[in-house]
Amino acid sequence: MGKYLDLKSNYKREKLREASHAIQEGKLVLFPTETVYGIGADGLNKEAVKKIFIAKGRKSDNPLILHVSSIAMIERIAKDISPLEYKLIESFFPGPLTIILNRREIVPNVVTANLDTVGVRMPENKIARDLIELSNTPIAAPSANISGKPSGTNIEDIWNELKDRVDYIIDGGETKIGLESTVIQVIEDEIHLLRPGKITCETLEKYGKVVLSPHILKEVKEDEIALSPGMKYKHYAPNTNCILVYSDDSSKMIEYMKKLEKENTLVITNDKNISCFQNAIGYGTTLEEISHNIFKILRSVDQKKKDLVIIEGVTKEGIGLAIMNRLIRACSHHYIEI
Ligand code: TXA
Ligand code: MG
Repeated sequence: MGKYLDLKSNYKREKLREASHAIQEGKLVLFPTETVYGIGADGLNKEAVKKIFIAKGRKSDNPLILHVSSIAMIERIAKDISPLEYKLIESFFPGPLTIILNRREIVPNVVTANLDTVGVRMPENKIARDLIELSNTPIAAPSANISGKPSGTNIEDIWNELKDRVDYIIDGGETKIGLESTVIQVIEDEIHLLRPGKITCETLEKYGKVVLSPHILKEVKEDEIALSPGMKYKHYAPNTNCILVYSDDSSKMIEYMKKLEKENTLVITNDKNISCFQNAIGYGTTLEEISHNIFKILRSVDQKKKDLVIIEGVTKEGIGLAIMNRLIRACSHHYIEI
């Protein structure tokens, strides 16, 4: 079992010394970020990075993000950074944004799945940044979950799943945002949005033209190439059948969901609408609350032993797009918009 380190309160940077040595020795460290927890390893040590893929059961053609703590560290792993890319870095780092940049040779092929690019992110979470700084190396880290499951937003949810698969477990409490970072790639001065997140399309539009990847809300077909390889894999889905319902007209949406509700179904809905259903749980009221709670709720669904789960969709504006991107996948593209 991984060594547990409780940093939920009385955090001091010194407490990370041992975990940073573990990173330097090629071990796996589960650590918090402001988005979701990550399974980290020395991103420049290919043997260490291979262990991440094994621990997660992740396909080797799905590249990892390198987490950095300074601009200098970005320049060690990426080259030919354009003025627009620098501007985005200066504006949003540290924070919940990943930028796909041209990689340098120093980055092992296992990290990038043989692509010429590397995903780079500077987390805002203090524990994450201190861990990177003390380790003095970029930390490769995917979200903390077995491939296909919802990402971990607190240690309790992922304890059984990952405790024996990592060497260190750093508990920093609940993650602030609850959804993974926004992933972008600048191509010919256009900002391609590969994965929506807390940094929204509307915000990015202040920096240039934003092009939405067609796979944000649609399935990647067999013969299609996704700019972000992660988009093609089944993700976030409970074993129970789930269906996502949305309409701009809230009463129409509730009526439709009511019709779907049967004896042994569960409804996941806005707190305001719980009383409309026989058996419902709330996911919060605001988009911020919903993004914070949604992975925890999706993880709890299977224990309830229902025949069907009906999930209320949200607007695709702002962080709503990121929530819908995750929910559509959680429902295996079983989505009705009326
Ligand atoms: O918030 C986050 O980003 C979390 C925390 C731990 O930082 N990490 C995370 O990593 O979500 P992961 O591996 O679960 O998701 C990374 C996504 C995947 O969909 C992957 O395909 C994509 O980023 N990606 C990574 N490198 C890429 C590259 N060079 N080109 C295109 N997509 C890339
Ligand atoms: Mg993930």
